[in-house]
Amino acid sequence: MNKVNEFRPDRLDPLETASVDQLRATQLQRLQWSVQHAYDNVPMYKQRFDEQGVHPSDIKQLSDISKLPFTYKNDLRDNYPYGMFATPMDQIVRLHASSGTTGKPTVVGYTQNDIDTWAELMARSIRAAGGKPGDKVHVSYGYGLFTGGLGAHYGAERLGCTVIPMSGGQTEKQVRLIHDFDPDIIMVTPSYMLNIADEMERQHVDPRKLRLRLGIFGAEPWTNDLRQSIERRLDIRATDIYGLSEIMGPGVAQECGETQDGPTVWEDHFYPEIINPETGEPVADGEMGELVFTTLTKEGLPMIRYRTRDLTRLLPGTARPMRRIDKITGRSDDMMIIRGVNVFPTQIEEEVVKIPQFSESYEIHLTREGNLDSMNVHVELRPGSANLSTAEQQELASQLKHHVKSSVGISVAVTLRDPGTIARSEGKAKRVWDERGN
Ligand code: DLL
Repeated sequence: MNKVNEFRPDRLDPLETASVDQLRATQLQRLQWSVQHAYDNVPMYKQRFDEQGVHPSDIKQLSDISKLPFTYKNDLRDNYPYGMFATPMDQIVRLHASSGTTGKPTVVGYTQNDIDTWAELMARSIRAAGGKPGDKVHVSYGYGLFTGGLGAHYGAERLGCTVIPMSGGQTEKQVRLIHDFDPDIIMVTPSYMLNIADEMERQHVDPRKLRLRLGIFGAEPWTNDLRQSIERRLDIRATDIYGLSEIMGPGVAQECGETQDGPTVWEDHFYPEIINPETGEPVADGEMGELVFTTLTKEGLPMIRYRTRDLTRLLPGTARPMRRIDKITGRSDDMMIIRGVNVFPTQIEEEVVKIPQFSESYEIHLTREGNLDSMNVHVELRPGSANLSTAEQQELASQLKHHVKSSVGISVAVTLRDPGTIARSEGKAKRVWDERGN
């Protein structure tokens, strides 16, 4: 793919502000290129297309995309490690991999152009969030095979920021450096941000006295209630960044700071669809379903109709003409079925965060009694509320049970734990502990 954009820190990219008609025309042209590129260079795509009786030349308009077969995470595993790369290995300048909870990791590869595009889109993302050249950016996403750290790093440099490549972990040191280096922006998972905020309290570092004004949080689902809590505790603006390694890494979509109304999908590089996860049929914008992406410019690893498993909906553009995604409810794999009711961890989070005496940390324990699944929500009191009487504590637990019952529709048990005893995340938080056996 020939490079079309040149990133300029001082103004929006032409395609970021192009009319919807211009954007659709660019998307169609790029889609045709990407589909042909995949077909010509990745045996799996050629075989799938041929089996389905579809050819790249059948893509005459954007809606023709629905004729193409889906791609799944398992396809990457089946072609481990490099079988889905579309360029010779000597053009691949970087590999990343996602650990994956089961089985083989998924490996992704980037050409130099891919790395440049990613840096530009991350720079665009930081700018959309409210960052600008000259800002100091503290990166607490993990560096390494995970895409978070290096993705943020290259983007911040491209925008003209000063990067502090802290990576994840060493929470005490994180706080010391934030205090001493005084960054303007922090990029970190929302759950690790809370961990750092707790550590700030412990070290008596007052966030209000820091320069920090903006957070760029993603890599895991988080709710608007948690956003408010983070904004209040740290006195910053909290924005949502979305991405996945198979499609690029962070910066597939970024929430604009001025509207904070869900991440804008950088549609000039990634074509989004929402489908019904059961039937695979596309659904209309505004309707909930599974997010599916087709890369439009990627050389190393083109992805055609990749099933993300993330559940959300597409919304019209606001701060940019490009469409937005609503906050991700969760991954279809995270859905729990409790006595016939579908529940996502984020629904529990919403209720926990509403009770100010509880910390934002929680765990969901699933057990089975006979044939019935039960949920036990573990929460802890904030240090400042630890001296409440037993009756007062019980009253808070009942409040949480009541809220979950009325909003989610299930009865849960609540376990109150001592402050600081719920394990804190240093990256993506683990929320669910499934003790049901099989
Ligand atoms: O998490 C890339 C990333 C890094 C995004 C830093 C944002 C910031 P993976 O490890 O491949 O890549 O995991 C991707 O994480 O399919 C979602 O389920 C989830 N996810 C990522 N961003 C968000 C978000 C990175 N803003 C998977 N909200 C995705 C909800 C998110 N879930």
